Amino acid sequence: MTEFLEVVKNRRSIRAFKDKPVEKEKIDQLLDCALRSPTGRAIRPWEFIVVTDPDVLKRLANARGKGPNFLAGAPLGIVALADGTMTDLWIEDTSIAATVIQLTAEALGLGSCWMQIRDRKYGDTGSSEDYVREVLGIPEKYRVECIIAVGYKKEEKQPYTDAEIEKLKARIHYNKF
Ligand SMILES: Cc1cc2nc3c(=O)[nH]c(=O)nc-3n(C[C@H](O)[C@H](O)[C@H](O)COP(=O)(O)O)c2cc1C
Repeated sequence: MTEFLEVVKNRRSIRAFKDKPVEKEKIDQLLDCALRSPTGRAIRPWEFIVVTDPDVLKRLANARGKGPNFLAGAPLGIVALADGTMTDLWIEDTSIAATVIQLTAEALGLGSCWMQIRDRKYGDTGSSEDYVREVLGIPEKYRVECIIAVGYKKEEKQPYTDAEIEKLKARIHYNKF
C-alpha cells in the first residue's frame, strides 16, 4: 500500500528519455495492467498499439504538426484508441487505461508523458487523429485518444510538495459545494 501511494505521489510527466529500450517484460506489464482497467459496463472498447520502431515513433511525434515532439526521443509509445461505436464512454475508458499505463510506468521505474491526439489539429485543416490513423493503418471507426510516451527518465522532476497540495485542498468540498 505504501509503495502504491509513493508511486502516485512521485509520478510526474517526463519528456526526456534515455537512449535505452524498455524491456519486453516491462512492456508486457504495462499492457497487462492497462487491460485490468475499469470500463463502463465492462465493455472494454479500447485497443492499444505498441510502437517501438524509431521511424514510426518519429512520424507519430509529428501528429500535432508544430506541437509537442517528445515522442520522437522515446523508445516506446503506446497508442490508446477505442472502437467509438461500442460505447459513449470510450473517452473515459481509454483515458483511465492511459492513466493506469502512466502509473504502472512509474512503478516500473520508467517515466511517461501523455500526448493528446483526440480533437487536436494537424496543420491548418487536418486532424491529429486522421494523421495517426494513416501512419498506423487504423480503421475509421476507431478513435484515437492519446499516445503515452514511455522510457527511462533522462530528466529529474520533483514530486509535488505537501505545501503545493495543501493549497489545492480549497478545491475539495464536503457534503455540499
Ligand atoms: C488529458 C491530458 C492531455 C495531455 N496532453 C499533453 C500533450 O499533448 N503534450 C504534453 O507535453 N503533455 C500533455 N499532458 C501532460 C500534462 O501537461 C501534465 O500532466 C501536466 O503539465 C501536469 O504535470 P505532471 O504530469 O508532471 O503532474 C497531458 C495530460 C493530460 C492528463
